[in-house]
Amino acid sequence: MPSASTEQLGDRRRPWWMSAVCYEVYVRSFADSDGSGEGDLAGVREHLDHLEWLGVDALWLCPFYPSPMVDSGYDVADFCDVDPRFGSLQEFDRLLADAHARGIRVLVDWVPNHSSDQHPWFLDARSGRDAEHRDWYYWRDEPTNWRSAIDLGSTWTLDEDTEQYYLHFFLPQQPDLNWTNPRVVEAMHDTLRFWLARGVDGFRIDSVQCLGKDLTFSDNDRSLAGEPINSFNDQPETHELLRDIRALVERENPEAVLVGEVNLRREASIVQYYGHGDELNLTFNFPPLDAPWDPIVWRSIIAEIEHRLGPADAWPVWTLANHDNSRVRTRYGGSLDRARAAIVLLFTLRGTVFVYQGEELGLSDVDLRRSAWRDPGGRDGSRGPIPWTREAPHGWTGNTPWLPFSPDSGAHSVQAQRDDPDSILHLTRRLIRLRSGSTALRYGSWTELDITRGVLGFRRELDDERFVCLINFTDSVRDVPLDGQWEVHIDSRAFRGEAALEPYDGRVRPEQALVLAPATAAGREQTDVHGARSA
Ligand code: NOJ
Repeated sequence: MPSASTEQLGDRRRPWWMSAVCYEVYVRSFADSDGSGEGDLAGVREHLDHLEWLGVDALWLCPFYPSPMVDSGYDVADFCDVDPRFGSLQEFDRLLADAHARGIRVLVDWVPNHSSDQHPWFLDARSGRDAEHRDWYYWRDEPTNWRSAIDLGSTWTLDEDTEQYYLHFFLPQQPDLNWTNPRVVEAMHDTLRFWLARGVDGFRIDSVQCLGKDLTFSDNDRSLAGEPINSFNDQPETHELLRDIRALVERENPEAVLVGEVNLRREASIVQYYGHGDELNLTFNFPPLDAPWDPIVWRSIIAEIEHRLGPADAWPVWTLANHDNSRVRTRYGGSLDRARAAIVLLFTLRGTVFVYQGEELGLSDVDLRRSAWRDPGGRDGSRGPIPWTREAPHGWTGNTPWLPFSPDSGAHSVQAQRDDPDSILHLTRRLIRLRSGSTALRYGSWTELDITRGVLGFRRELDDERFVCLINFTDSVRDVPLDGQWEVHIDSRAFRGEAALEPYDGRVRPEQALVLAPATAAGREQTDVHGARSA
């Protein structure tokens, strides 16, 4: 069974998800059990031993529902079933049971903002203005100027038979559900109950800031400026809906977590979605997904999160990549050193960590010509299949995978990297172990160190446990003297062996990240990291 649902620390109980390392499984590209060329739930189950070895606490499974796959499964045709290409409900149950047996929790991707245009509700809704499900969606005689995400077309598509426009914040094949209709609320609540009754441990909630709509249906200047409406839609009604969702989930499974995709890219806005502890438990924090390899940008993102979320007692989420955005290595100019340093940064920040599949392998984006895009928005780069074995077809026997592998897949395969203690895969595993053994890294405070010239430094501490993390963003060696004696627990550039920890020599190599702890009890007493200074 999964680990304890709460951890008692001092006088505070902390729910499991605060310290969790969650792993995003893009099911279609993870592992293929039946040779179809697409990953499936049985493929995930067959690789649970690997995920357990890695040390992850929970999986977020991207949508596996019946779907025409226009938006790779985010166009859901049945919220309570499994698409045959991914398996069956029985296969889901097996995966859940096996994951739980290994102590791994499972989160399902819940997509409340829209359905597929092939969902029976929408097929009925468009069958006539008097149809039973007509007002389960939004219909208007005249469109507004709103632009949709993914293809930046209009958010309104004319249904020629009934001569009205329907609303879709995303693709025309994803009509928005009308959450002002109590029957929609009830039906969607039932879908939550369905998965909770099967035993899931929570939900990643898709595009959650979109649920409430501007019911005045007014044109918007930001649309004129070319922004998609989902990037600024942030209506007060959503919070009311979220409170009911939270209450329902808490009633059915008090330990379940709700982590929302609040894609507003402003910390001041996302903090609202935690409510007063009665809305989302966690919200994704998007600025890191766009952050360049620049210590000043990173410092301001981290400081902003600390500043906004800390006082609200809202627990941060950190992630470097996902299925909608470029992989870290590609974003950072193809440098594996930077990808390695970034993953050290990820695991040493204060908050819940989400790792997107393949980031632990240092994969790059798949290089695809526009004519080969499978996604209407061209987000295929980070969606390539996971290379399991060194030799092609890298564990994907049968049909050719639905997307090509990323470059150097043999060298970056799981097999090659498990054999190499110096690999980014082993580095990730060491980070997970260090974190899970340290209350300071899991829950401790985050304090920036006064270090300049291209090195981001901070300390994490709780009671008498302390770490200092130094990330050199430059391509030259930097002297970073610290008071007291420190030893290197993690070095992004090399495996130094766990038995013999090396002393910190006061220098951080180019694009290197170090996690340091006081060397000895005596050293710890002498150490005052407030005194950290640049050379
Ligand atoms: C966010 C998902 O991550 C993305 O892949 C999808 O296209 C949109 N929401 C719409 O569901």
